[in-house]
Amino acid sequence: MKKFLVIGNPIDHSLSPKLHNFWIKKNNLDAIYGKLEVFKSDLTELCENLKQSQLNGLNVTVPFKKDIIPHINVLSGHALRTKSVNTISVENGNLIGHNTDIDGFELSIKKLNYDLTNKSIIILGAGGVVPSIIYALKRMNTSKIFVSNRTKEKAEELKDLFTDLQIINWGELVNFDMIINATSLGLNKKDEFDQNFSQFGKNKFFYDIIYDPYKTNFFHAGNEKGNVYENGLNMFLYQAQKAFNIWHNIEPDINEEVINFLKN
Ligand code: ATR
Repeated sequence: MKKFLVIGNPIDHSLSPKLHNFWIKKNNLDAIYGKLEVFKSDLTELCENLKQSQLNGLNVTVPFKKDIIPHINVLSGHALRTKSVNTISVENGNLIGHNTDIDGFELSIKKLNYDLTNKSIIILGAGGVVPSIIYALKRMNTSKIFVSNRTKEKAEELKDLFTDLQIINWGELVNFDMIINATSLGLNKKDEFDQNFSQFGKNKFFYDIIYDPYKTNFFHAGNEKGNVYENGLNMFLYQAQKAFNIWHNIEPDINEEVINFLKN
């Protein structure tokens, strides 16, 4: 039986095991997918387990998407460009690092038929998934990308990867077409943002990376008439679909059945 894991810290909230095991069953595969809370010091042993075939693949989530890189033998172009790995496969004893968050984000936008050409974007947050979002936005020909993070230095560090980013102070906004919440604000019931998201009028696209967000002022602004609001569920589904395809060479279905299963 093939064994797969998602690793991170914390990891309790992850829906990846539920989703992958659903698809494994649907496709009659002899495999199992679990989750493991780990520390940075565990990464060497986990990667050794992959090389020895005790494990067949890993998903990597926050905060290890960058820390895992020194343990990888070959990085895909996407992983190299973003210094971020969320999926590991094994080929002839070599660990291959992939980044399926980029496609996950891009496909979720394409599904909405939303054209980002020449659009101006604000990203709130500078955590592990943000390089992938920036990379995907650039592929979709956006004009300007602003990043605003509570800890400004972390936003500044992103300029090492993407030189033309513009950094704005946390709490400040500039006019935008699309705004992305890539912080963890909205995961907890009492979370709120200090920003007034409605100050630049309507026809804005609000994208929350969280897939089950509490109703913050970001959520409410996005749901005002004239705006578009999307949460992170489709991005999550598409990045998982890509990872499943890398490991099993099968593109699993994303349909109402699987979405309802995840929600219950
Ligand atoms: P990591 O930063 O370890 O990669 P993450 O979950 O990917 O973890 O990112 C968390 C993001 O949410 C960060 O941008 C974080 O801001 P800091 O860099 O200042 O920590 C942001 N965040 C978390 N709690 C927040 C809060 N109460 N207010 C504003 N931003 C917050």
